[in-house]
Amino acid sequence: MECFLKKIKEMELIDNSIERGQRIVEKAVLITGGSAGIGKALAKIVSEKYKYKVLIVGRNEEQMKDIVKECSNIDFIKADLSKADGIKKIVEAVSQRNTKLNYLVNNAAVQNLSLLKDITEEQFDESMNVNVKAPLMLVKGLMETNMFEKNTRILMVSSSSRYNIQKGMGLYSVSKEAMFTLHKVMKKEYAESLLISSVYPGTVYGTKTAKGMEASKIPEIIELRKDMKEFLSSNKSIRILSPDQAALFISWVLCNTSDEEYIKPKLARNFNDTVINEEEWDIRDCEFYINCPYKDGTKLKQLANFLGK
Ligand SMILES: NC(=O)c1ccc[n+]([C@@H]2O[C@H](COP(=O)([O-])OP(=O)(O)OC[C@H]3O[C@@H](n4cnc5c(N)ncnc54)[C@H](OP(=O)(O)O)[C@@H]3O)[C@@H](O)[C@H]2O)c1
Repeated sequence: MECFLKKIKEMELIDNSIERGQRIVEKAVLITGGSAGIGKALAKIVSEKYKYKVLIVGRNEEQMKDIVKECSNIDFIKADLSKADGIKKIVEAVSQRNTKLNYLVNNAAVQNLSLLKDITEEQFDESMNVNVKAPLMLVKGLMETNMFEKNTRILMVSSSSRYNIQKGMGLYSVSKEAMFTLHKVMKKEYAESLLISSVYPGTVYGTKTAKGMEASKIPEIIELRKDMKEFLSSNKSIRILSPDQAALFISWVLCNTSDEEYIKPKLARNFNDTVINEEEWDIRDCEFYINCPYKDGTKLKQLANFLGK
């Protein structure tokens, strides 16, 4: 009898899902900046390990076609996040696919390195458009078109540059701080319908962001690179991650936490004199994860081992 009732329940679920034009169980995630770096690594993990349907957004069509060839569960939307019609195109593409989203990862960002005295209006506009305006307008557009499931998780990929202020990286810091304020406002205004978190991937090598710093000729950035190298070699607990490692952590935050853990992560903590608070996730020091009191502590332990702590 119990088995029979279970079967009926499953059938009801299937019917409801079909009515809403969805396939059962399969979850859908939209990742901006999925054509490269951390976003690309995240798209692959979420598609291969979690079997979610993944939509990536970027401008580089060739790169995205290659990713789609590798992973059957990934599709792409070519759009420019710095432009209003780019956001419109993404919202329309999601609506046309009739794919309600369970997750949105606001990962795309530009890092325009420049001292304040040299910043151009174009650099300012691009940084603010991609890093701040796009996450805001994307959430707004997807809300208006009713493309979010109830309790959709919005993950903002932040950066320690939000509070770690360095010469030459000011514009990036300003945009990441604005993005975090946006996170806090969204948390209040969308409290009934969305779950919102911010994540800090630490220092990640091999991405365009990292390469931009390596290639910079700005003397202050060259000096900063030297300082960072010294700091990292004298602080062995802080590691430079590959995009895959950063993405593994982000995928865990996104897919493996309870709703309560996700919106109020206890794993974040103050780090040196920085201002990470309980609403933010941090990966820079694995020691904390090893002592994690949460039910998923073992998974974090495995992750810490994997990362080489
Ligand atoms: N790498 C690090 O060390 C590091 C550290 C801390 C935080 N983060 C954060 O992690 C996130 C990912 O960084 P990453 O290093 O992986 O970046 P990345 O390798 O530079 O990739 C950036 C992604 O954003 C997309 N993008 C940029 N401008 C766009 C636009 N106008 N329209 C559409 N897409 C655009 C790019 O796609 P197209 O080129 O195809 O347009 C690309 O997929 C960012 O939020 C960054 O701030 C990175």
